[in-house]
Amino acid sequence: MTAAASLWADKEKLILEASSLPELTHLEHELFGRKGGLMTVALAELKKLPPAKMKAAAQELNEWKTKLADLIDQRRKALAVPSNAQLKDADRIDPTLELPKREQGHLHLIPEFIRQVEEVFGRMGFDVARGPEVETEEYNFNLLNIPPTHPARDAQDTFWVKTAGEEKKVLRTHTSPVQIRYMRTHKPPFRAIFPGKVYRKDADATHSPMFHQFEGLMVGKDISLANMKAVMITAIRSLISPKAEFRFRTGFFPFVEPGLEVDMRWQGNDEQSREGKWLEIVGCGMVHPQVLRNGGVDPAKWQGFAFGFGIERMIMIKHQIPDLRSFFEGDLRFLRQF
Ligand code: DAH
Repeated sequence: MTAAASLWADKEKLILEASSLPELTHLEHELFGRKGGLMTVALAELKKLPPAKMKAAAQELNEWKTKLADLIDQRRKALAVPSNAQLKDADRIDPTLELPKREQGHLHLIPEFIRQVEEVFGRMGFDVARGPEVETEEYNFNLLNIPPTHPARDAQDTFWVKTAGEEKKVLRTHTSPVQIRYMRTHKPPFRAIFPGKVYRKDADATHSPMFHQFEGLMVGKDISLANMKAVMITAIRSLISPKAEFRFRTGFFPFVEPGLEVDMRWQGNDEQSREGKWLEIVGCGMVHPQVLRNGGVDPAKWQGFAFGFGIERMIMIKHQIPDLRSFFEGDLRFLRQF
């Protein structure tokens, strides 16, 4: 390095190390001051060099000039930001302090349970589909073989929706209409579940005007009640408990023949329910031939089963929750337990 170059390199180092603005201004003046600044003088002296050397020397000097001026600018900007030590106590950051813990949220226990349902049935090869919550009377009742005189249609139970058109609509009272929608858009054989919200004018410890169900539908050439029981038992055991106690008994639903209901043993903590009482959690059966036909499936070639689980009821049994209304009150003391 030439003597001149080592002088500039020294100054460069001093600029980078300057620890205050006055120190930096001093350096700037020393280099670029109009009278006697080291760089100013060096530039003026270029003229004295023989022409053969002048070009290279001028180029080198100009590079240093630009470099040092830029470094001074950068350093000035950096020094303008106060260092931690220069801050007032209140503004100072202590990097050794632990950050306050951010509260971690989690899914509400209903959507969380639905995910488990999708996973358990997914492992058994079931597809997942959803249907509309505002449903036509046709899908919610007629196509499911529910006659106009059936008590399920009663204005006491059903939320009817005012519509401008001819078609009568309801807030779906169950997830069963998705069976028809699915059959009309898929070719058998198939198996699928349909989770979602349903609505009924009902409110007490085991009923809420909005609740959740998931429907299941499996159609094939030789699907029987035995297949249905196997699928349901597997699902109940993995979703609730391997020791879950349940019973199948006959029940009537217009869209299945034969129809069955499944109850699960509910064991509360209080004296009274220690013995356990039975809570209905699901209706099921072999899909009625007329319902298959309504879905565009030929009952002479295909048969299958369907079931409709009440999700809240299952979770109540799983976690021993005595009142269904707790799900929807948004009380964090309740929700945080799960
Ligand atoms: N949809 C019925 C209800 O909400 C439950 C049900 C019963 C669904 C039998 C089914 C079934 O698929 O086969 O009460």
